[in-house]
Amino acid sequence: MKNQLVLVLDFGGQYKELIARRIRELNVLSMVLPGDTPVERIKELSPIGIIMTGGPDSVNAPDAYLCSKEVFELGIPVLGICYGCQLIAHLLGGKVGTCDVSEYGTVKAKLSPESVLFENIKPESKVLMSHTNLVTQLPEGFVSTASTRSCKIAAIENKERKIFGLQFHPEVAHTENGTEIIKNFLYNVCGAKGDYDMAGYIETQIQEIREQTKGKKVLLALSGGVDSSVCAALLSEAIPGKLVCIFVDHGFMRKNEADEVEAVFSKRNLQFVRVDASERFLSKVKGVTDPERKRKIIGEEFIRVFEEQAAKFGDVSFLAQGTIYPDIIESGHGKAAVIKSHHNVGGLPEDIRFEGIVEPLKGLFKDEVRKVGRELGLPESIVERQPFPGPGLAVRVIGEITKEKLDILREADAIFREEVGKLKKKPSQYFAVLTNLRSVGVMGDERTYDYTLALRAVNTGDFMTATYSKIPHSVLNKISRRITNEVKGINRVVFDITDKPPATIEWE
Ligand code: XMP
Repeated sequence: MKNQLVLVLDFGGQYKELIARRIRELNVLSMVLPGDTPVERIKELSPIGIIMTGGPDSVNAPDAYLCSKEVFELGIPVLGICYGCQLIAHLLGGKVGTCDVSEYGTVKAKLSPESVLFENIKPESKVLMSHTNLVTQLPEGFVSTASTRSCKIAAIENKERKIFGLQFHPEVAHTENGTEIIKNFLYNVCGAKGDYDMAGYIETQIQEIREQTKGKKVLLALSGGVDSSVCAALLSEAIPGKLVCIFVDHGFMRKNEADEVEAVFSKRNLQFVRVDASERFLSKVKGVTDPERKRKIIGEEFIRVFEEQAAKFGDVSFLAQGTIYPDIIESGHGKAAVIKSHHNVGGLPEDIRFEGIVEPLKGLFKDEVRKVGRELGLPESIVERQPFPGPGLAVRVIGEITKEKLDILREADAIFREEVGKLKKKPSQYFAVLTNLRSVGVMGDERTYDYTLALRAVNTGDFMTATYSKIPHSVLNKISRRITNEVKGINRVVFDITDKPPATIEWE
């Protein structure tokens, strides 16, 4: 059975995927298409509703990004947000002008209880405004249904034609009851039935992957991180037997990690190639102490190994990548969607020619990727995996990397993670760092001269800024005792109490 569909017409707004996500969360299938998608295409898709996004343009500019007026003649309910709202006014005969003062941030809005969009919503709510233009004159047949102090027309509607516009952003968390407003549009205006869920998302992606790859082979560099793992699981469902996963073990993984990845994926319907390149990587970084050089060497070596392995599969036509939506925003709009030149792998081989790139997760946010992973039966150890730098423990062993230091760190890090893992409220990211410092200690009657281990635990939402996590002293004490007792080579444990900034999360 076909799901009901809501189209998100994108006019360049930064929140388009957030809108699509809200729609999914409300159990309706959504699809993001360019703002000027031809009317014929829209008819073909027969959506139950259309949401027009914000955008950077001004509708009055000569080269403004517009859609055809016919979109409003289709009888399909439309909700325009910010630029989308101004577009409705502009195209249907109203006027759009410039604000006396641009409005950015949350403001109080008066919402008319008469409007179907604001049903069961507090008539005075905080909303997020972010605009320099606004509707100054309503199009014929429209009424204003919301206002703020500096914006008289903060929402417009023509109930009969089912056309609505909001100057504010209901999709962001800063807007009180924003999701409710979208829900009212979907369920009370468009007649949504809520026939869509994560299983539905997976089903749609599986169909799309099959259509795109047409029975040909697909190659994926699997790191064991959440994104590439979920990507592998999804592809193995979509194209059983046609996926080749290359897992390069550079020897900088955490304790048991490489075996765990192998155990999970060798059971799936895909070709799993584990390459133990640890000796090779270790010899490449021998004597190297500069963090950036370490990263560069490891990134480049990764590509070499991947290329060598890929060359063995001459019949591969597609390259799959676990790109997720935040990667696309972070690496620059639009273009970056083509290839994820993530600092994880330092860019992918250019001389391997592929027919195309498969990126089935590119519209999803991290927590949604985790949901997909669970739905596909991946274990929690993978689905809930913390972010782990591409160069792995190589940037957590300060200074020169040796096998001995890596082994010490692996053991200590495992104890730290085990103990913190027992806390009810876990930090966002936590790991151990083997400093290059040795100091004097005493064990039994013996003098020791061993390494100092640093523990790092941070809380963060976006990993751009972070605060150190206040792990209880009793827990830290237990961890310190366990590590110094159980791990040979460490006689001192310190806890990093620096926020980011000024420090970064990783030490190197
Ligand atoms: P920093 O150290 O820059 O880390 O505060 C922010 C987040 O990014 C992770 N990180 C990396 N991830 N390759 C990655 O894929 C890398 O080279 C890398 N360096 C840092 C880090 O673990 C933290 O989550």
